[in-house]
Amino acid sequence: MVCMAEDGKTFSAPKGTKDVLPPESWRWQRLTRLAMDMFAKAGFAPIITPDFEHTELFERGVGNQSEVVTKQMYTFADRGGRSLTLRPEGTAPVMRAILEHGLERGALPVKLAYCQTMFRYERPQKGRTRQHLQLGAEGIGSENPLLDAEIIELSTRFLKTAGLDPLLLLNSIGHEDPSCRQGYIKVLVGFLYEHSAQLSSEDRQRIETNPLRTFDSKEERTVAVMRGAPLLSDHICSSCREHFEAVQGALQDVEVRFEIEPRLVRGLDYYTRTTFEYQVEGLGAQSAVGGGGRYDGLSEALGGPRLPGIGFGLGLGRILLALDASGAAINEFEGEVEVYIVALGDRAERAALKLATELRRSGIGADFDLMARSMKGQMKDASRSGARWAVILGEEEMTRGTAALKNLGTSEQTSVPLGDVAATVRA
Ligand code: HAM
Repeated sequence: MVCMAEDGKTFSAPKGTKDVLPPESWRWQRLTRLAMDMFAKAGFAPIITPDFEHTELFERGVGNQSEVVTKQMYTFADRGGRSLTLRPEGTAPVMRAILEHGLERGALPVKLAYCQTMFRYERPQKGRTRQHLQLGAEGIGSENPLLDAEIIELSTRFLKTAGLDPLLLLNSIGHEDPSCRQGYIKVLVGFLYEHSAQLSSEDRQRIETNPLRTFDSKEERTVAVMRGAPLLSDHICSSCREHFEAVQGALQDVEVRFEIEPRLVRGLDYYTRTTFEYQVEGLGAQSAVGGGGRYDGLSEALGGPRLPGIGFGLGLGRILLALDASGAAINEFEGEVEVYIVALGDRAERAALKLATELRRSGIGADFDLMARSMKGQMKDASRSGARWAVILGEEEMTRGTAALKNLGTSEQTSVPLGDVAATVRA
């Protein structure tokens, strides 16, 4: 049903967005808490950046050639005439915040984690929405390959704890230098011109603007050509190669399994050296539940000092779709109400508010009825709430100062003094 006003106007969520309602919303909350706690235990402090930034931050940070910037940004002029953009990704804002507040002058690496909404104007389909929630972590200020392994182990462990067994694809795309990636790009451009007649027209246009992206093309003709393309991994410089070997060794030390994918380029222009992506089956075209990589030149692109870093972003919506598709038994989470108070009559209702407050103040989740429903109706709500206990307050109990405490699992019922409910439940 959609809401309709008197004048016939209807309201629904904008295209490409969705409401997350209970019980599904419990899963979102459970996973975001799990992630942020796990990241915190590895030393990543939470950061919250604004939902919109100056458009130039993304143009310079994410890159003028990336599809995110050229096609997907929600950009608007505010009433003061500034060009602002809803955050399409989290890394450039985190780097901006670090530089703006001088966090790089403290202990390095700066380790930050976020759970924030991203906005991208994309054609909606399964696993692809115009607003998505991303869990991410960034380690900034070190080139050490152990940091790469730390970051990749963390995201892998989170996905596994969430219940997935994704394929981790790993690559190194070298760095911006004629001896490394720039040299390779010349070779690649030469190859693409040689085969331009076989490429799709869109991919042909990319030869000059973003040749690496041809590896990501979904066009069958291009995919066939790219099978024979020269590989970046054969052209990266010796220092990037050594770095990549050290990353692989460190991942083996911590028993993280990966597959080298020399065609993995990823879509954001800031990436250097290590790149990685998590793939799952059953999601169709949107098979990446997350990804990340190094961005050793991002700080300088934003006018900062040299500040190499690496991070990841995981799409919560895709993780949940992947869990559903995997057929893994979903541990349905039904909220935090442990005690449901069934109140019959005005006197009992007032006592229910008092008792619920007392329980909540002592850390026990509690809820009660406010709709003067029948005993049967309230008992139904009690089991729907997921509570383990029902406390029944009727006229008789009010007169005696007691409560009937029912274990909703075993249906056992006992009478306890009203003042002892919290202690009994806790015991
Ligand atoms: P990304 O690969 O563009 O990387 O996005 C990360 C993840 O966000 C994707 O793997 C996917 O799960 C989810 N995602 C992206 N777009 C959508 C969409 N339209 N609908 C639903 N889910 C989506 C980044 O954004 C980088 N900032 C990650 C990173 C952090 N790299 C280094 N540090």
